[in-house]
Amino acid sequence: MEDLLYKTESHKQYEYMAQMKEWVKLQSEKMGRPLTCHITTFGCQMNAKDSEKLLGILEEMGYVETEDENADFVLFNTCTVRENANLKVYGHLGHLKKIKQKNPHMLIGLCGCMMQEKLVVQKIQESYKFVDLIFGTHNIFKLAELMKQCVDSRSMIVDIWQDTDQIVEDLPSERKFRFKCGVNIMYGCNNFCSYCIVPYVRGRERSRNPKDIVREIENLVADGVIEVMLLGQNVNSYGKNLEEPMTFAQLLREIEKIEGLERIRFMTPHPKDLSDDLIEVLATSEKVCNHVHLPVQSGSSEILRKMNRHYTKEQYLALVEKIRAKVPNVSFTTDIIVGFPGETEEDFLETVDVVKKVNYDSCYTFIYSKRTGTPAATMDNQVPEDVIKDRFRRLLKVVGESSKKNINRYVGQTMEVLVEGVNDHDDSMVTGRLTNNVLVHFPGGEELIGKIVPVVLKEAKGFYYIGERAQEA
Ligand code: SAH
Ligand code: SF4
Ligand code: F3S
Repeated sequence: MEDLLYKTESHKQYEYMAQMKEWVKLQSEKMGRPLTCHITTFGCQMNAKDSEKLLGILEEMGYVETEDENADFVLFNTCTVRENANLKVYGHLGHLKKIKQKNPHMLIGLCGCMMQEKLVVQKIQESYKFVDLIFGTHNIFKLAELMKQCVDSRSMIVDIWQDTDQIVEDLPSERKFRFKCGVNIMYGCNNFCSYCIVPYVRGRERSRNPKDIVREIENLVADGVIEVMLLGQNVNSYGKNLEEPMTFAQLLREIEKIEGLERIRFMTPHPKDLSDDLIEVLATSEKVCNHVHLPVQSGSSEILRKMNRHYTKEQYLALVEKIRAKVPNVSFTTDIIVGFPGETEEDFLETVDVVKKVNYDSCYTFIYSKRTGTPAATMDNQVPEDVIKDRFRRLLKVVGESSKKNINRYVGQTMEVLVEGVNDHDDSMVTGRLTNNVLVHFPGGEELIGKIVPVVLKEAKGFYYIGERAQEA
């Protein structure tokens, strides 16, 4: 009944934010200083984006963000894609326990993909009793409501949803960068690659309404953003479940019309269903960047079949060729898993062959990690650790050589760089990205941050360039 009082879920949540704001105000008056919060984010860009939304809610409640984990509210946004991502969280929790012993008023929250696993939540309830709040990936919009319950009840609050078809729009969000921003176009995944836990922890695929996406980007642009990264586990299936179905290529055409937006990136297109229309958009759009992150996972058709990827080595290579033919300067990056169950030396050499043939700008390489509940976890012939390590080392070498060779091709050319920040190691330099996503460092000051400037690429250094600002025409 209570829900009927609110026009939308976001109105209801703004009401909880207002109530928490009162509480935060009272607490800060008692302490004589503002209340601080800190979000530690593990995992992928989806999680990074979720953390920006969570921080937006916390700031609306009156919390002030602080750089370290010694804060009044600490939230871990967790990842469980590989076991080591999962273990990292427990390590950090041990550290938090010590901080909380010194500051008993501190609140600790856990959210994200790991919390969608029953056994994880059980373990935390039993062995990490100092945690105050646990929620999952489907209900991050409820942060203020859950924190209200937490401070009212003074006991551990756990709220995990198995799945949802709800998309809550118009909540606050904070941005890490002034000039660029990730934008969710869809949530969840229906692909069930046999090694992957994401479909189990992020639920079924659902697309946002194109109007909501365009409106969000228009607002971002009005606020200084010139580059967006459209996010989805497989952006190629965007729009299929909308009331008025629409393709990803059509969505890109709509977004491209937004005046003031300069660059559009997207992640991730699955090789099984990358359409000719999308290639056409890549070839003709002024704004869509000429970079395709195209995860191959393995070069062996037999392993790809067991991975449930729905393409063969030949189909993947043919797709790369088709894109290259239409988009001459396109750059490819990829994800590769080494040591999937049953991977033989021959299978591995097929992967090496793909790396050599495609000439990736860079590859993200992962050692296969067994995820309980996925079909691959119970497959025969799990590969011994020493064999995997040896293959991994050999693969890294090939990957390094391939990116090095590839990056040399633009030396001497002048290209546009979107400046992202002052160089980490030398403050007389700035760092930015080409449209193909490769990093460039060149002499310049912080006034260039967020601007697109032409730079002569003087020297290639493995994964990046050293450049010099070109004279503007
Ligand atoms: N939806 C994206 C990938 C998201 S997960 C896609 O299909 O490309 C990011 C990467 O993590 C995957 O591409 C894969 O290479 C890797 N990964 C996923 N599960 C893994 C596992 N069990 N072990 C090792 N790497 C894994
Ligand atoms: Fe995982 Fe495959 Fe979905 Fe990517 S497409 S998130 S690898 S199941
Ligand atoms: Fe991303 Fe990790 Fe979840 S990779 S979707 S944060 S399991």
